[in-house]
Amino acid sequence: MSLATATSEASAEAAFGDLLNRVRADFDTQFTWDYERGRDGLNRLYEKAKRSQWNVSDDLDWSIDVDPERMVRLQADATGVPAGFPARSLLDVKGSPVASWNDDKWVEFAVHSQCSSLSQFLHGEQGALLCTARLVEAVPWIEAKYYGSTQVVDEARHVEAFARYLDEKMPTTYPINENLKSLLDAVLTDERWDLVYLGMQVVIEGLALAAFGMMLGTTQEPLLKQMLRYVMADEARHVAFGILSLREIYDDLPADEFRLRQEFAYEACEQMRRRTLNAELWPSFGIANEEIQAALPDTESQRRFQRILFSKIVPNCKKLGLLDHRDGWLRERFAEMNIIEFEDWENTAEALNLEGRVSDQETASTGLDPDALEGVEVIENPAHPL
Ligand SMILES: [Fe+2]
Ligand SMILES: [Fe+2]
Repeated sequence: MSLATATSEASAEAAFGDLLNRVRADFDTQFTWDYERGRDGLNRLYEKAKRSQWNVSDDLDWSIDVDPERMVRLQADATGVPAGFPARSLLDVKGSPVASWNDDKWVEFAVHSQCSSLSQFLHGEQGALLCTARLVEAVPWIEAKYYGSTQVVDEARHVEAFARYLDEKMPTTYPINENLKSLLDAVLTDERWDLVYLGMQVVIEGLALAAFGMMLGTTQEPLLKQMLRYVMADEARHVAFGILSLREIYDDLPADEFRLRQEFAYEACEQMRRRTLNAELWPSFGIANEEIQAALPDTESQRRFQRILFSKIVPNCKKLGLLDHRDGWLRERFAEMNIIEFEDWENTAEALNLEGRVSDQETASTGLDPDALEGVEVIENPAHPL
């Protein structure tokens, strides 16, 4: 390390303190001298991506006034689901730490829960930005480098959008969830670049698509709706990028290597399941996470709420052949996690408005670029020609 580098790193740490987090990685950056573009799916995706760019500053209406408490109450009225669900079911538990909470307290909790979710989106988007930059360096195909570079821009835009929304419209931002951080670290430190695709493009992006879809399906806040629609249209392309690339890689992968990918997918999903317990939220309300875990009733609605987040990941793992390799090893693990029910689930997701599909009428009122909508279509059948 040169003195100049050491000095600039020292001064950056002095300036940012805990705000900087360095992850050391050892991986190969690959040039390719093969500029032939033979991968039609990736070529089409790249063309779509170039046409679907949008601008956080110009295309979202930041003049919209957001009142977080009103947003929570409106959502409860519109959906019939009380503020603070599913944590609110703790009220029914005898001696629960939230027994004395009234409706106003649950509204306050729901506002912070929304801040926590948006914060994890924000940090996850930065993770996606770094992972995609890694892919551009490491992937050997020119088509994937081209496409990946558009995703780098997309992810930077998503970080910008969520950071601005949290800063200007919401009361606070929460730190990254430790399960999300450890999965991002695992993906970024592994020298096998195809695991970046599996961990980020399939698991984390798949989870994000379902989570965005759930938020889009429930929030009544117009700026957030607008933002989620734009982001989801981009994310649909990103998941398709992962599926297209991994299919080609997995075609040639020896059985023992493929087995390691199954195990990686399972571990990543387990880590993401633990993420859904909102561990960063409860301590800010003076309640230890252990207290909540012990008291949280194991109701069907509670379980379903957590499971539905996997509705994109499971079908995509199936498409990649990961479920049924090795006598269905991953299928068994997903059955134990109670998420195997999603293996053929795209159509149901659409029916439940998890796709964030935009009607013609809504398109006219939001001014959403029709090219961006093409991106949303990609997620429905990523195995089909794009
Ligand atoms: Fe993103
Ligand atoms: Fe993404």
